[in-house]
Amino acid sequence: MSDKFDFLKNIENVPSNLIKGLQAVQSQEGYVSDEAIEAVGRYFNIAPVEVEGVLSFYAQFKRVKPGKYKIAVCDGTACHIKGSAQVQQWVSDILGIKPGETDADGLFSLETVACLGCCSLAPVMSINGRVYGKLDRKSLTKILKEYAAK
Ligand code: FES
Repeated sequence: MSDKFDFLKNIENVPSNLIKGLQAVQSQEGYVSDEAIEAVGRYFNIAPVEVEGVLSFYAQFKRVKPGKYKIAVCDGTACHIKGSAQVQQWVSDILGIKPGETDADGLFSLETVACLGCCSLAPVMSINGRVYGKLDRKSLTKILKEYAAK
């Protein structure tokens, strides 16, 4: 196993620990790359195609490398009512990415999430955990421009 995935050795290499192994990869790397699938498959003695099958079954696993700035548009009930779909569409229009994607520069990635816990500020998004509320197209554009210029 390459040194990069040495941390897997902290997990007993029995097939029933596959999910634990994938979770460890994701928390270390931020996503599960093709290289990681090979390494995990070798370590747990499971064919890579089977590892991919398991990955595709669980929404918690990301297959695309997250951007430097991770945008999470809240689609909880309060935000949904206040137009989260519109917010997500604005982000997509401005950055050219859909949920689950990262832009070509590796700067922004987009996902939709359940309630971020600040419903009174709906509609809400977070960027790398920092929350922005009461979004409209103007404020959203300004925020994204500021991040792009950092
Ligand atoms: S529903 Fe969006 S913050 Fe609660």
